[in-house]
Amino acid sequence: MKLAYFGHSCFLLEIKGTKILFDPFISGNELAKGKVDIHTIEADFIFISHGHGDHIADAPAIANRTGAKVIAAYEVCSWLEVQGVKNCHPVNHGGRLTFDFGSVKFTNAIHSSSMPDGTYGGNPIGFYIETTEKNIYYSGDTALTYDMKLLADYGKVDVALLPVGDNFTMGYEDACIAAHFVNTQHVIALHYDTFGYIVIDKVAAKAHFEQQGKTLSFVEIGNSIQL
Ligand code: NI
Ligand code: MN
Repeated sequence: MKLAYFGHSCFLLEIKGTKILFDPFISGNELAKGKVDIHTIEADFIFISHGHGDHIADAPAIANRTGAKVIAAYEVCSWLEVQGVKNCHPVNHGGRLTFDFGSVKFTNAIHSSSMPDGTYGGNPIGFYIETTEKNIYYSGDTALTYDMKLLADYGKVDVALLPVGDNFTMGYEDACIAAHFVNTQHVIALHYDTFGYIVIDKVAAKAHFEQQGKTLSFVEIGNSIQL
């Protein structure tokens, strides 16, 4: 299983040849300039956590070019369809979909969701992905919430992709508590440094996780890691 980081909250997860792109916001991200080419990204699926521009900006273009199936909240799908995206599958909290690579459950996220034009975006969601290899939790933009404890009941979370940038989402201290809640050892950071409000001290963040017996990883933009 391979995980590439395209900056902010955007990752490409590859499971047995299936490529899942999360929250594509690349062309507007100064930190990703020259490191990620949005015209060559391949995707079979695009998972979108909510309607904010820093999660959806490049979704219409990539979805239309690749034909990837977009999985998002009903209201996000409705908006994308108006943008000309044809291959959308609407979901909501509590649902589960089964794919060749495994299954995905749509989890609660404590945040807001409106579309770039201000229309209603429904509720923000996260993704709990179960596969025969590993189970991954991608929380989306969220505050720390006791609902995360449900994931420890569903199964073993091998790695959690969590926001650590504070201000709009959890900071790294709460992300570390979230790691305890979902009972995972390994967290991969997202939603930090992209703009002024969310610049963090990465050395302090990693040290905090180490003190709690957990690992926090920052993947370089444009790089990938093996899970
Ligand atoms: Ni947001
Ligand atoms: Mn965001």
